[in-house]
Amino acid sequence: MARWQDKPFAIEVKAGDTKAFCACGLSKNGPYCDGSHVTTDKTPYVVKFDEVKTVYACGCQESTNRPYCDGSHAK
Ligand code: FES
Repeated sequence: MARWQDKPFAIEVKAGDTKAFCACGLSKNGPYCDGSHVTTDKTPYVVKFDEVKTVYACGCQESTNRPYCDGSHAK
């Protein structure tokens, strides 16, 4: 899997937002799912948010806590 970037994506979300984050690593629109997983057995991480906050989505594809950053990009 290629890295989308070498740092997390800071994403502002609000109550009621639903985001589909790529789990297969093939999306051309990382960190979001673009449907490329159809050739794999993966499905996106679909997360519904219930408050306003900033989330940090994995950009390097090496996090063990995906779809969120765990600091692996810095290792
Ligand atoms: S494109 Fe990767 S999970 Fe959908």
